[in-house]
Amino acid sequence: MHVIAIASQKGGVGKTTISLNLGLALARAGNRTLIMELDAQGSLGLSLGLADRARPGIAEILTGSETLDAVLTRTRDPQLQVLCVGRVDPTTVSGFEDALSRTGAIQSMLTKLEAEFDIVVVDCPAGLGKVTTRALESATHVMSPLQAEPLALRSVGQILALIDRIRAEKNARLELLGIVLSMFDRQTPASLEVAETLWTKFPDGIIIDTIIPRDETFLEASLRGSPLLLMQKRPPPLARVFDQLASDVLDRIHPQGSTKEEDNAPIPLLL
Ligand SMILES: Nc1ncnc2c1ncn2[C@@H]1O[C@H](COP(=O)(O)OP(=O)(O)OP(=O)(O)O)[C@@H](O)[C@H]1O
Ligand SMILES: [Mg+2]
Repeated sequence: MHVIAIASQKGGVGKTTISLNLGLALARAGNRTLIMELDAQGSLGLSLGLADRARPGIAEILTGSETLDAVLTRTRDPQLQVLCVGRVDPTTVSGFEDALSRTGAIQSMLTKLEAEFDIVVVDCPAGLGKVTTRALESATHVMSPLQAEPLALRSVGQILALIDRIRAEKNARLELLGIVLSMFDRQTPASLEVAETLWTKFPDGIIIDTIIPRDETFLEASLRGSPLLLMQKRPPPLARVFDQLASDVLDRIHPQGSTKEEDNAPIPLLL
């Protein structure tokens, strides 16, 4: 099972939007996919139109009042399930984060999910705090959305340093899947300039080819509580960006899971 943490040093750069739309695109590409929300803000549930905090999730698993199986939420796509954060009262966020970052808390949930999913996309809270750090300690990959703005280079440096430390100390198998340019605005010269610096300054492959443009449709999707791909009978062209991103991701992780046996099997003769 591949565990892809979506994490960034800055808040509001599109982590939740990418988790949701990438998760659905990976599911549509045939992978048994789970989107797991570790952010006490609960934006994922809201983006899905799950409306309120009434739905139990990770918070209830941590207190022992619900089992993991009971709170996994099926979606209209049979390959996609969602695990929301649950009922976290705004006044108890810090206690929730303490519980979630206790040694083994995230890992034990992932271990239970191992048989059921090929890919888990983890929507991390903003910043590189303890919850994100714990998520990276249990992940196989990390993808970091980045807005092309002047401070971007600094935040790339910070996440690369954190990944290095986690690889050295806790999780040697963690790989940087890549940095994905998010909310990209081609009209803004400063954005283009930062993007060019990123492409030239960092080694090949760190910046993922697919770029997520800044687009009003995302706001509309948030308001309707729907991923782009399910928004209308015919999804907006923008949704194709996430199919492209999913294909970049799959190229980079070479998912095993259900196709593993086929990959390892002798190549059948054509005639
Ligand atoms: N490419 C985009 N173009 C325009 N708006 C976007 C885009 N991506 C996300 N948004 C909007 O920007 C806001 C923040 O996005 P999102 O919640 O995905 O960021 P986040 O990184 O998860 O934030 P946080 O750090 O608070 O968890 C949302 O209202 C979302 O609809
Ligand atoms: Mg978010």
